Amino acid sequence: MGVLERADPEVAAIIRREEDRQTYGLEMMASENYVSAAVLEAMGSVLTNKYAEGYPGNRYYGGCQHVDEIESLAIQRAKDLFGAEHVNVQPHSGADANMAAYLALMELGDTALAMRLDQGGHLTHGHKVNASSWLFRFVHYGVDRETERLDYDEMLALAREHRPKLIVVGATAYPRIIDFARAREIADEVGAYLMADIAHIAGLVAAGVHPSPVPYAHVVTTTTHKTLRGPRSAMVMCRQELAEKIDRAVFPGLQGGPHMHIIAAKAVCFAEAKRPEFADYQRRTVENARVLAEELMSLGWRIVSGGTDNHLVLVDVGQKGISGKKAEKVLDSVGIYCNKNAIPFDPRPPAVGSGIRLGTPGLTSRGMGPDEMRRIARLIDAALAGRDDETALERVRGEVRELAGAFPVPGISERAP
Ligand SMILES: Cc1ncc(COP(=O)(O)O)c(C=O)c1O
Repeated sequence: MGVLERADPEVAAIIRREEDRQTYGLEMMASENYVSAAVLEAMGSVLTNKYAEGYPGNRYYGGCQHVDEIESLAIQRAKDLFGAEHVNVQPHSGADANMAAYLALMELGDTALAMRLDQGGHLTHGHKVNASSWLFRFVHYGVDRETERLDYDEMLALAREHRPKLIVVGATAYPRIIDFARAREIADEVGAYLMADIAHIAGLVAAGVHPSPVPYAHVVTTTTHKTLRGPRSAMVMCRQELAEKIDRAVFPGLQGGPHMHIIAAKAVCFAEAKRPEFADYQRRTVENARVLAEELMSLGWRIVSGGTDNHLVLVDVGQKGISGKKAEKVLDSVGIYCNKNAIPFDPRPPAVGSGIRLGTPGLTSRGMGPDEMRRIARLIDAALAGRDDETALERVRGEVRELAGAFPVPGISERAP
């Protein structure tokens, strides 16, 4: 960061402090990851200077020959990675990708069926504070009270009752496999479109570690920065017959100029995700989550749904009399970063919650494995048990720093000093 350090030492110093936090802390946010140095370099390239409203070969600006090449390459790589018929790589974020899909598939006021936020769904799936619910009428399904797994019978009953135009599957805090084939059967029965939001599991899907929705869903949206380990951004995949509607919804419907530097970084990420080591990484991510869940259970913690099939673990800390909010704060204070989360049928309000959501994508990118997961489960247990004991917390803080410091952070460690 030599140039930035000289040009703007104030900003450079803040970035250095964040690099230190990422290096000496344990990033267990299920939605976060560490991109490669190559992805970072593409994001920091001169492509940020270029305006390119429109699509490759059909722009509202001149001088687009190179950004056309980049966008076409990103599209081709994404199609190849996911087996999609059509891909739009311009959405700036998962929220934008979802809104574009809604605008393409529904008329204002139409009904959609999606997963409840407080049982694992996402804000953009029709929560009352989100614009999706102001423009469309959302009805919500959830999980079974006993198994805490998706309740497809409820999905079907609600679909029959409300005849939605669109059924959305996909989640932000759901640790189990999603049955896209079953969701498609339900959508077909009521004549609805099926949309899969795979923001969280895109990397697992790309690696074949989670079943793909592409054969079943009419539209698939995803962020690119979570398990997929690309830049902070998103994309929409769809059947060819919906291509024009999706493209028009993204631009000019929702966005202006595409962020070409980010599209370049997506192209880099898609190539990385095609490599055998990426599939291996995803397998290790899931294995690490499983080991983490098992070790926490053996220490007496209740895990929502009794385990995990993917990259995340929902811990019911409420059962031990701790709120999710308090647990997040305690763990933050020792350098273990995660987020409070509602658990299904949570007695506490969403801003407090009875759960924490732990993810393994970031730690696995640093090369950590089952031994580290067991050790981290014990550190989490020690921090929460010793939450009012500063000496105990100080001991955990030291161990976290030592453990994290031993595993290089991609994107930081390879860079020249
Ligand atoms: C399932 C799901 N969809 C959409 C989003 C929104 O993505 P973004 O934060 O890029 O708008 C998220 C982000 O957490 C998510 O988990």
